[in-house]
Amino acid sequence: MKQIIIEGNKSLSGKIKIGGAKNSVVALIPAAILASGNVKITNVPNISDKDALIEILKLLNVKVKKQTGIIEIDSSEIKNNVIPENLSNKLRASYYFMGALLTKFKKVEMYFPGGCNIGSRPIDLHLKGFEALGATVKKEEEDSKYIIEANELKGANIFLDFASVGATINLMIAATMAKGKTKIMNAAREAEISNIADLLNNMGAKISGAGTEEITIIGVKRLHGGEIKVIPDRIEAGTYIIMGALLGKNLVIEGMIPEHNIVLLNKLQEMGVDFKLQNHKIILNKSKNLNPTNVRTVVYPGFPTDLGQPMAVLLTQAHGISLFEETIWENRMGHVKYLNKMGAKIEAERQHAKITGPTKLHGEQITATDLRAGAALVTAGLIAEGTTIINDAEHILRGYERIINKLSSVGANIRITEI
Ligand code: EPZ
Repeated sequence: MKQIIIEGNKSLSGKIKIGGAKNSVVALIPAAILASGNVKITNVPNISDKDALIEILKLLNVKVKKQTGIIEIDSSEIKNNVIPENLSNKLRASYYFMGALLTKFKKVEMYFPGGCNIGSRPIDLHLKGFEALGATVKKEEEDSKYIIEANELKGANIFLDFASVGATINLMIAATMAKGKTKIMNAAREAEISNIADLLNNMGAKISGAGTEEITIIGVKRLHGGEIKVIPDRIEAGTYIIMGALLGKNLVIEGMIPEHNIVLLNKLQEMGVDFKLQNHKIILNKSKNLNPTNVRTVVYPGFPTDLGQPMAVLLTQAHGISLFEETIWENRMGHVKYLNKMGAKIEAERQHAKITGPTKLHGEQITATDLRAGAALVTAGLIAEGTTIINDAEHILRGYERIINKLSSVGANIRITEI
């Protein structure tokens, strides 16, 4: 098991460069198998989720060439459409192979996806969308195995009961070569969706409206090779911005797209955080006397659920009471008991939390329960007095490329060990 060890309360000065977005690259890789030719993906982050998907590609007999930050995918000899349970449940994004393999082979067999333990995480919207496109969905092995097949995929009007990121992307992929026109209504608008649409269009798809609540896809006969650059990771950027608000001494976060973090920056402004925006970078200084504020996570472009946990650490340092509500996932409070063990004052009840600050945090031995809870624990360890040991640090490495190097390079005393 990996542990992250932090000696806290060190100022953060210097530059942190934001990498490619995890929640983009985990969809771009499966989408690439639709191409009859080579697909090149650049600005690929060095995260373990990417490696799990490459394992699946290899199983499908897809040729993968890797170099730093670049993946080249050649599906000309792809010949398998069955993904075993041990690979399906490695990460949530394995489910994008449902849309991709259904399109490629008109049949796919795989298991319920994995991912962070932050709720039941159903995939009913994906499956209903595949059925709307003409597929049948069979479940086996106590509903853990899915066999999805179609004689032909035909364009349809699909209304999503919830603006689901995964369902929007999966159905966009599945509709690219369906016969006729597909409309996805109440589509998710997260920035990553436009990145995937850009790749598919670069491969010859006809997708319009990505990034809005209505996406139209005109089916095409084939998709050729293409190229895409992964957009900067807005959640990685937001996490380091929060750390800069707590410990920055002219900390520069660069290579981000500020528009993707507008709602976080508005909140920081409300709190009185000292930051300056310059094109694709932000300069942060530790802010005294932070004002409390209320945070409610909602679908894009609202406050992102994936920043709720790191944000809770900033709220523990605000002078007063802040109210927090998580509306996307039913169980995203895995960080609370550990922050309280470090000296925070957070009263949490299901999806609501009341955070009283400021509280002095001290180092403790704690455990990462999921990716973003882990990011919150790193943030708390950085401001705590003394030593913090974070167990199950593998969760954190799934979504934050080279987090130890990036934080050490700006003055944090942080290391990782294997026990
Ligand atoms: C994506 O998950 C992200 N993961 C999540 O980030 C992120 O929290 C989430 O979008 C919301 O922004 C990836 O992109 C790999 P959803 P996804 O479908 O697609 C319900 C991280 O930390 N729902 O938008 O799984 C669901 O239960 C991760 O990087 C259904 O009911 O999220 C949830 O309440 C965590 N039925 C809500 O919709 C479905 O078929 C949002 O889910 C699908 C979803």
